Amino acid sequence: MSLSTNNDLMVPARTGGYAVGAFNTSNLEITRAIFEAAAELGSPVIVATSQSAITYAGYDNIRCMVENMAEATGVPASLHLDHGTDLAVIEQCLEHGWTSIMIDGSHLPFDENIDATKKVVEMCRPRGVSVEGELGRLMGVEDEISVSANEVVYTDPEQAVEFVERTGCDSLAIAIGTSHGAYKFKAEPKLAIDRLAQIAATVRVPLVLHGASAVPPDVLELATRYGAELPGAKGVPPQSIREAIGGGISKVNIDTDLRLAFTGRVREFLAESPEVFDPRKILSAAIEGMKDVIRSKIELFGSGGKA
Ligand code: G3H
Ligand code: 13P
Ligand code: ZN
Repeated sequence: MSLSTNNDLMVPARTGGYAVGAFNTSNLEITRAIFEAAAELGSPVIVATSQSAITYAGYDNIRCMVENMAEATGVPASLHLDHGTDLAVIEQCLEHGWTSIMIDGSHLPFDENIDATKKVVEMCRPRGVSVEGELGRLMGVEDEISVSANEVVYTDPEQAVEFVERTGCDSLAIAIGTSHGAYKFKAEPKLAIDRLAQIAATVRVPLVLHGASAVPPDVLELATRYGAELPGAKGVPPQSIREAIGGGISKVNIDTDLRLAFTGRVREFLAESPEVFDPRKILSAAIEGMKDVIRSKIELFGSGGKA
């Protein structure tokens, strides 16, 4: 079974009123957790790789893992570049069989973001590869790009229409108050759902929510109980994600929650089984923790049974 594109997975999601999870991977264990949980629940998945994840794991290693697991499980899956900023990396992803590219020009002025995104659309079109653009800025760290709190800019609905028309991108990441990482809100979590509804009413392509991890209390509690230091960690509550999907979001990006689950389960295993030194046993605990998180996301996003 060949890999799907993001268009193959997200257009039905937009029509069907559910979202597909985009889970970031950089190794065998995370990739296994993604495919095993998706296969159990009959869900499509987007397997996302940042530029730094590719530097860590290598193009061929990632592509082979994802292709083999898609084939073995029958899960409809795309292989997506997350927060692409470097044209040389984008070119390499296309050479190595990635089926979806995000060009993140959100840090650029509007017209320059359009030019950069259009260029990537031109590179991807002949190969049938989907392109995600980003308009508006999230707070936090986006793949080594630091964005400070006072730079947060929500997506402007009129600009969003113009951006999609002028670039020809297949999907659009928007900023409605989320941010990357484990520290998303100092006060109560709040998303600009009204703004999302305005954008969804006029932008026809599927919309994407970055920075959507929840920092689930049980996952945080386990990691903290076994020594992690994450004071003030706070994510997006599941109810807000539900509202965002109801408002037109078709792809939800999750990385932090997998990192937290991985860390907590490894810490627990090492503390409780100090005699064990087989990496496969230690990392199996991490896989189970990440699968629990992915199952709950698939249920929340409504993508179970849509494979
Ligand atoms: O949005 C960013 C992702 O969480 C990837 O982060 O560059 O540390 O792999 P990374
Ligand atoms: P989180 O840090 O909330 O998991 O966001 C991940 C993301 O947006 C990847 O692009
Ligand atoms: Zn992101």
